[in-house]
Amino acid sequence: MGAKTRTDTIAAPSTGDAKTAKSNKITVVRDVESLRVHTRAWRKNGETIGLIPTMGALHEGHLSLVQAALRDCDRAIATIFVNPAQFAPTEDFEAYPRDEADDIAKLDRMKTDLLFAPDVAEMYADGFSTSVTVSGITAGLCGASRPHFFGGVATVVNKLFMQSLPDRAYFGEKDYQQLQVIRRMVRDLDIPVQVVGVPTVREKDGLAMSSRNWYLTPEERATAPLLHQTLQETAAAVAAGEACADAIARGRATLDKAGFARIDYLAICDAETLAPLDIVDRPARALVAAVLGSTRLIDNIPVPPRP
Ligand code: PAF
Repeated sequence: MGAKTRTDTIAAPSTGDAKTAKSNKITVVRDVESLRVHTRAWRKNGETIGLIPTMGALHEGHLSLVQAALRDCDRAIATIFVNPAQFAPTEDFEAYPRDEADDIAKLDRMKTDLLFAPDVAEMYADGFSTSVTVSGITAGLCGASRPHFFGGVATVVNKLFMQSLPDRAYFGEKDYQQLQVIRRMVRDLDIPVQVVGVPTVREKDGLAMSSRNWYLTPEERATAPLLHQTLQETAAAVAAGEACADAIARGRATLDKAGFARIDYLAICDAETLAPLDIVDRPARALVAAVLGSTRLIDNIPVPPRP
């Protein structure tokens, strides 16, 4: 291990039968070199690796990704990196919730093997000048209102893949467009990783769990579940044969009336390409992004098959 490596909680990389040789405490590493000491040892031992990229502020949705990785793989690596490249200067990079000690405690309780939590200098060296662009599928939906976003995500996720060389990587369906963009990037660039989409975890009232729910005032929190209800109504209407434009207009009116400050989109799209549909004649997804107070919320659900 070189002098540059920074590892907070670690002895030697544990190998052997993963079921018996896991150390009690999660290992926290902050640089790529230390990360690779562990992944190399695991791979040499024939162990599979699951990667869970996150920006921290972990909630049940993130923990369901960890659970899926622990179920499928011998080793689970969570990453926490609030990636400046996917925030516009006007967005909430500085305010984004951060509580690393709490995140580590949660990951530790789940017996996650390792947390990779680099700083910005470790991820973006001086003079960093490479970016990954996924076109087409990134043009609409969130890409229309956040044009910088998917370039930032594709670049950082690519780096995380190269750094850890996982067998599988886990992403929430809550960020459905992001999931499809990553699938497309992996396919197009022949990246040898299996991308696993994990269903959205919801609060009892249907609100999709998100680190940004933390920003909502009590009044906004009471209104927020309407987003999921509207998706359900819109999806049911188009599944029953209504034209997408009509169902969407009704859904938008409902959200407007409830006080959503801006509706970036309410859309019915092809489930894979995310091309907007006029009528539902193939696997489809209902997706929404809207601003409540100053918080931008997104959600999506599958359109049920025709009754
Ligand atoms: O979904 C997120 O938390 C982020 O976009 C990701 C995938 C960790 C990339 O920064």
